[in-house]
Amino acid sequence: MDQTGSDSSPHTPTSVPELIRKKRDGDRLEDAEIRSFVHGVTEGTVQEAQIGAMLMAIRLKGMDLAETEILTRALAESGQQLQWPEAWRPLLVDKHSTGGVGDKVSLILAPALAACGCKVPMISGRGLGHTGGTLDKLEAIPGFSVVQSPEQMRELLERAGCCIVGQSKELVPADGVLYAIRDVTATVDSLPLITASILSKKAVEQLSTLVVDVKFGEAAIFPSQEKARELAQALVSVGARLGLRVAAALTSMDSPLGCCVGHGLEVEEALRCLEGGGPPDLRDLITQLGGSLLWLNGQAPTLARGVAQVGETLVNGSALSRFQAMLEAQGVAPSLAQALCSGSPAQRQGLLPTAPTKEELRTVSEGTVEQIRALPLAHVLHELGAGRKRAGEALHHDVGLELLVSVGQRVSAGTPWIRVHHRGAGLSRGQARALQGALRLAGGAAFEPERALRELVLPPAPRG
Ligand code: URA
Repeated sequence: MDQTGSDSSPHTPTSVPELIRKKRDGDRLEDAEIRSFVHGVTEGTVQEAQIGAMLMAIRLKGMDLAETEILTRALAESGQQLQWPEAWRPLLVDKHSTGGVGDKVSLILAPALAACGCKVPMISGRGLGHTGGTLDKLEAIPGFSVVQSPEQMRELLERAGCCIVGQSKELVPADGVLYAIRDVTATVDSLPLITASILSKKAVEQLSTLVVDVKFGEAAIFPSQEKARELAQALVSVGARLGLRVAAALTSMDSPLGCCVGHGLEVEEALRCLEGGGPPDLRDLITQLGGSLLWLNGQAPTLARGVAQVGETLVNGSALSRFQAMLEAQGVAPSLAQALCSGSPAQRQGLLPTAPTKEELRTVSEGTVEQIRALPLAHVLHELGAGRKRAGEALHHDVGLELLVSVGQRVSAGTPWIRVHHRGAGLSRGQARALQGALRLAGGAAFEPERALRELVLPPAPRG
């Protein structure tokens, strides 16, 4: 690389500053220019400051579908492509989320789909912005390793039917670099960057069908349903250009999903769900997303049958035994995996990270819980150590919160409504105020909350 940051690789048409300038000024980038930039990101020849500047230029000026497709391909091709036995081809499915608060669906759905006969080679992500990441949650389990080689992934799919891994030197390395920098440069909420980031990981997996959970609402990357629909359509369209069958579910993200937020607590809640329990909103979303996948992939004759099939795996223990197999295959000591998957919540005490301090807040008046605003809750948890302020920073897996009331419930004044798990002497006054402000009470009777899933954007019908 020369002093201006130019990459001298053979397919470099333009210097990096010139590429940034082009996008900054709203011009289209040529295929070779996008590929050259991603090549430099992978090789480490593009400086972090330049990556941040390019991400911001894309965030502000956007990319059309053709540019987004090339960015996706270039990211996918920055590492190895996964290879599977021919017989697995029609069974390869996956689900991905744009990120929410309390969203532990992947931990449960990957083994549930494996129990339905699917192969799920899930390449997932860490927390982005205020949202929690599947990989960070899994790392709350002592010994769990998210770094697995392509060869190891094949063994994992043979043993457990599913695995959940992260980007690495071998798997979509360029997405790993961009993802970490987006998290700390306010460039998460970019339609082309999200599309390319998600689909590059899925293109590498050589899937038959993918369902993306596109969240909208106050605590989602995009608050408005219209913007989330635009993202859903971009995912479906770019997926089709790549030969990938992609459906997108639009789901609301105003209140947290389930009752627990925070890495260790979310693993505990996932285990309860895998044992056939857990909160109804979480179970409903898992079965709806999984049912859609089975139906679109031709493994269930109808959506309703797909939903029932996934639900059965949660009740009959087959999803739980796949989860246990996945934990063991990804590095968790067999005795710990067994204890986590065969004990009661009380017996699991102390096996997952536990914070030294628990503090409850009470309702200040009576009323009906209209909303528990996920965004301020996520910000306080971030401050308490559950999220990153710098790329690559270690997290506190024991920090989190439990909701003790649910949306639609009638409460009287003085009811404990939230239990915060943290490491300090006490919540600051600002943190307590922010948390109390998250609970929205209204007059009126108790009500049944609306289900999270609002729309399903389907892939184009196959030709012929
Ligand atoms: N998940 C990803 O993998 N990338 C994004 O940009 C957002 C969610």
